[in-house]
Amino acid sequence: MGAAPGVPMPQQGPTGFSQRIIAWQRQHGRHDLPWQASRDPYRVWLSEIMLQQTQVSTVLAYYPRFLARFPDVASLAAASLEDVLGLWSGLGYYTRARNLHRCARQVTERCAGRFPRSAQALQELPGIGRSTAAAIAAFCFGERAAILDGNVKRVLARVFGIDADSSLAANQRALWQRAEALLPNRDLPDAMPAYTQGLMDLGATICTLRRPACAICPLQDVCVAAREGQPERYPVKSRRPRRGRMTLWLLHAVDARGRVWLAQRPASGIWARLHCLPQYATRDALLDSLPVAARRTVVEHAPFVHVLTHRDLDVHVLSAHLPASACQAPEGCWYAQAEWPALGLPAPVRRFLGAQLQS
Ligand code: ADE
Ligand code: SF4
Repeated sequence: MGAAPGVPMPQQGPTGFSQRIIAWQRQHGRHDLPWQASRDPYRVWLSEIMLQQTQVSTVLAYYPRFLARFPDVASLAAASLEDVLGLWSGLGYYTRARNLHRCARQVTERCAGRFPRSAQALQELPGIGRSTAAAIAAFCFGERAAILDGNVKRVLARVFGIDADSSLAANQRALWQRAEALLPNRDLPDAMPAYTQGLMDLGATICTLRRPACAICPLQDVCVAAREGQPERYPVKSRRPRRGRMTLWLLHAVDARGRVWLAQRPASGIWARLHCLPQYATRDALLDSLPVAARRTVVEHAPFVHVLTHRDLDVHVLSAHLPASACQAPEGCWYAQAEWPALGLPAPVRRFLGAQLQS
């Protein structure tokens, strides 16, 4: 740990950490986000899952649409995974959508349709990690549970000048302990929602990765990183293994009616269960799959890179005209353009098909 032990950080009184966060959130934080209007755990849970890996501005477009279609946990549990993936399409990180669906079914079947009311119990559900469980419990039930997502880790690393590699388990544990020690006092009954939202807002709008706005930050006079003058130095990057890279060849097969052949991906692996253009490991493998007549119609598009969590994909797409009878593999189907929006499509496939329509 860096300069941590000797940092003066009174827990109570007007200079305390949580009081500063709460006062700042009441004055400068965000109050008009649609999920803040509710203490319904279903609504809060849905927003937290969407916000795990997606920016607020994007979620604002998806959240109301999703709620209009699935207004409560029972309607989501009754839906097919296909429909859920379709509505999630474009948000990425589809494991979230699969877990969302599983979670809704568990709540319906095992909890009589009511979300558990403690962070501990919430954390047992699919897709709800420790920080998400704490956020839901704090927002909905006022529980004194600490969040620790990427933004909060950054704020704590800076305020306390922590330069330890947070990918090590022992350092993670220490960070959680710190987050818990900083929670508002028990005698402040309504503190948890404002405190939790304040930490999130501070990390997202003031203590940003690239350009922390220390001059207007409520923690500036107690912040080690600000005092040192180079807050962007934190959090210290861990030495990660190099990102993987993979090349993918996709066949954009079009029939005489302009329909596109899409096949559902297997239940595990990349883009599980989404509808995708058929994939090949090499250009030759793709061409070999085509009837000779169709090979003469092949058009190769400019390749693009698609960034996944652990690797970059070099995506190459080849278009070919095929008679409708040429594709009859059991796992795929011809889909007309009007049918695409309702399908769960990987983001790059959606983008590619969209671009084809424009041109
Ligand atoms: N990121 C994660 N949870 C959030 C929330 N409740 N409000 C804004 N951003 C968030
Ligand atoms: Fe982040 Fe600067 Fe505030 Fe410290 S003073 S918490 S570095 S914004």
